[in-house]
Amino acid sequence: MGMEILHYKNADIHFSSHGKGRVVVLLHGFLENLTMWDDIIPELASKYRVIAIDLLGHGKTENIGYIHSMEDQALMVKAVLDSLNLYRYVMIGHSMGGYVGLAFSQLFLSNVKGLCLMNSTPLTDSPEKKINRDRAIEAVKQNHKTFVRMSVPNLFASYNLIKYKDEVSVVVEQALQMQAQGIIASLEGMKLRKNQVLALKKLSVPTQIIIGQNDGAIDIESTLQSVENTSTEIVIFPDGHMSHIENKSALTETLQLFIRKCYR
Ligand code: MLT
Repeated sequence: MGMEILHYKNADIHFSSHGKGRVVVLLHGFLENLTMWDDIIPELASKYRVIAIDLLGHGKTENIGYIHSMEDQALMVKAVLDSLNLYRYVMIGHSMGGYVGLAFSQLFLSNVKGLCLMNSTPLTDSPEKKINRDRAIEAVKQNHKTFVRMSVPNLFASYNLIKYKDEVSVVVEQALQMQAQGIIASLEGMKLRKNQVLALKKLSVPTQIIIGQNDGAIDIESTLQSVENTSTEIVIFPDGHMSHIENKSALTETLQLFIRKCYR
């Protein structure tokens, strides 16, 4: 596995590159980083070239502003892929990474061979969720470490918190490395994000939404409704927001089938 760095807008962008062949791009979610894919990458990299990127303000990648819009993130992702001379890829985005994948697809339609929204949604924030973002921003300003310790466990199905106690701790410990600025910039960016239901419908390549039946971070009903009677494939897992932990083997299999379909 090769860790690499791109200098972009006065910031260091960290990403990793694995394997050879047609390209799969992995985008992590809010408070996460590229190590979330560690158990899945070996499976994918035996057949594909896999690029995993630390998004702005996350992992080892620095901040470029006080708001990181989904478009800011998408432009950075494009710069990384261009620097590798890669122009066709399947994108898989977890949660906020899915929002970035949607923004990317809108900006660079012809580069995308498929888009998987994993525990994510094409919908914008509801008015209630926007208010919660503002509360979260205030909480981060008060004490971002407390915010991280309280938020991360909510991403798992509550009945899984004991079973995945060690994994929860790892996610918390990693998120605690983030600066408050990076956390706030993403909360602001997610709050601003557009409704992408039409953009998703317009994609003529394969698209997929993976839902966790007990995911408290996504509005499951309205997300399912938004893709009803469209070509977006829906896959439902039994657990929470953290499919890569809570439903790891089913997820790996689902992603492999999806990528195969995109490159058929
Ligand atoms: C994420 O996991 O990326 C976030 O929970 C998504 C969100 O808050 O909308």
